[in-house]
Amino acid sequence: MSTESNAAHCVLVTGGAGYIGSHTCCQLLNAGYNAVIIDNFSNADPSVVDAIETITGRRPALVKADLRDAQAVRACFDQYPIDAVIHFAALKAVGESTAKPVEYYEHNLLCTSVLVKEMHSRNVKRLVYSSSATVYGMTNPVPFREDMPISAINPYGWTKVMAEHMLTDLAASDLEWSIALLRYFNPLGAHPSGLIGDDPNGVPANLMPYVNKVAAGILPDLPVFGDDYPTRDGTCIRDYLHVLDLADGHLAALDYIYKHTGIEAVNLGAGVGCSVLDVIHAYERASGQKIPYHITARRPNNADSPESYADTTKAWRLYQWKARRDLDEMCRDSWTFARTRLTK
Ligand code: UFG
Repeated sequence: MSTESNAAHCVLVTGGAGYIGSHTCCQLLNAGYNAVIIDNFSNADPSVVDAIETITGRRPALVKADLRDAQAVRACFDQYPIDAVIHFAALKAVGESTAKPVEYYEHNLLCTSVLVKEMHSRNVKRLVYSSSATVYGMTNPVPFREDMPISAINPYGWTKVMAEHMLTDLAASDLEWSIALLRYFNPLGAHPSGLIGDDPNGVPANLMPYVNKVAAGILPDLPVFGDDYPTRDGTCIRDYLHVLDLADGHLAALDYIYKHTGIEAVNLGAGVGCSVLDVIHAYERASGQKIPYHITARRPNNADSPESYADTTKAWRLYQWKARRDLDEMCRDSWTFARTRLTK
């Protein structure tokens, strides 16, 4: 769609100050959309909104509120002429979800139900939902296809499975709804400006934020969780994609749901598997320095599937979207972020 026609739309971005949300806001604003961020800043910094303005030259509207607060959500819809929603806001730490399962079920499902109830009452029935490749569970063969059975192995994953079910039932109950269930694979990288990126609080649980902290000299070396998997170098295979490609995937999904009703689950991945050692070596090339690492035991409870990568046919068929940036570019942009933004 053209920038002029996008200017007629106002998109609410829940969790818009987070890692994927902030990059998606940049792409939305660059494409001419009006964007409203609603975020409780539980895992994001308000300065991200300034960074989005610096990058795009446009400032998104900001509502500081928790989505579980139905009155605040209503006030947000009162204030802005929202006609579609991209829903990122959720708790997302897999390990924490095992320690605090009830909090995860309550938080993630309540955020989604409060949001869609308000949308329904306003006749705003276009939703892009952040799902995850985690819904493919441990038994499907790669590459993962959208028509495979879904399940989960931890409470975080179950909140994604359950939300997918809830939204599927909603779309069946009212044919005016238009919903994209986007199943993300593993986003890496950052905006090339280095102004926004993935910087979780505390010791990172995910690969790239951990590598960033090792490269920036904040952590001594990377634990690699197992080298005895049945893969080409013994480490796990994942489908890494640049966060800006992922953000562009949201715009492609949005364009689609403005034109079609119904519900579709769609994989957003590169469709290529890379090992943990591939990522380390690409990061070494990008940063010009060695990344110290040591092999440790596999993740507890056999929580890692050996291989995860997407069949990307449907994303291309429905959205004409595919990932365009390679692993070297993901590592280059992560390193720019790490060396300029991370402090010891
Ligand atoms: N890894 C390490 N050392 C670390 C961190 C990760 O070796 O310190 C390895 C993991 O074992 C895995 C790979 O790097 O093989 C990627 O791990 P991440 O934690 O970055 O990503 P995951 O694939 O485990 O999980 C991601 C998201 C989840 C989501 C899942 C779905 O973080 O939210 O993908 O596929 F559920």
